[in-house]
Amino acid sequence: MDSHVPRHVGIIMDGNGRWARRRGRPASFGHRAGVRAIKRALQACEDFGVHVLSIYAFSTENWSRPRAEVRALMRLFHETMQREIDEMHQRGVRIVWSGRMEDLSPRMRDRIEEAMARTANNKNGVLNVCLNYGGRAEIVDAVRKLIGDGLAASDVDEAAISARMYRPELPDPDLIIRTAGERRVSNFLLWQGAYAEMLVTETLWPDFDAEDLKSALDDYTSRVRRFGARPEAEIVISGSN
Ligand code: IPE
Ligand code: IPE
Ligand code: MG
Repeated sequence: MDSHVPRHVGIIMDGNGRWARRRGRPASFGHRAGVRAIKRALQACEDFGVHVLSIYAFSTENWSRPRAEVRALMRLFHETMQREIDEMHQRGVRIVWSGRMEDLSPRMRDRIEEAMARTANNKNGVLNVCLNYGGRAEIVDAVRKLIGDGLAASDVDEAAISARMYRPELPDPDLIIRTAGERRVSNFLLWQGAYAEMLVTETLWPDFDAEDLKSALDDYTSRVRRFGARPEAEIVISGSN
């Protein structure tokens, strides 16, 4: 494996609404086009050797959108999972999901559970669907688990918290891409993204394709990740001050 290829890429898929508005259509039209972009991105990840792709599909804050849009989105997620599961499974993709179950409808929960169970042993890449996901909600849920597990304050450390995140088995994201130009994190992978490289592209999500992913990966390759340390080449051995 090429060490310059990120193992885990997260995408804040933004701009569906703007894409639709430019065409004089409702947001749901953009969300449909957004699903096609997910398929392209997943294929491109496989082609370029990215093992884990996390997609931000619906945030815990997105419930505050117009009811009709939320309903259309939920219908689209349900329909997409039903339609795509066979192909994903054949391609050997493991589907996992991150988020809060309790606010989702029973049929949505069933779809998610089914997709995860069917693809659980697949080894050809991981698609982490962040649906009803919020980074703060995830931390709150982890704290609840810590308390539920009866941990003493002195036993609470980063490893204990990481182990109680929604997907502790996944590596932290190396690269987080946000489409549609907004320079904010919007509650995505707050804990895991502590040292992720960030890339913002003006491309609206429905237009995002393999070329866009390739240039994001090339950009990532050119960066030096420091994790707070002083790179060897910058260390001056002698001299005062
Ligand atoms: C992102 O596209 C998709 C979701 C948040 C579900 P938006 O719908 O946020 O698109 P803009 O920001 O309105 O263009
Ligand atoms: C972030 O996009 C959430 C998803 C992509 C699911 P938003 O469009 O909801 O973010 P804000 O409101 O612009 O911060
Ligand atoms: Mg948006």
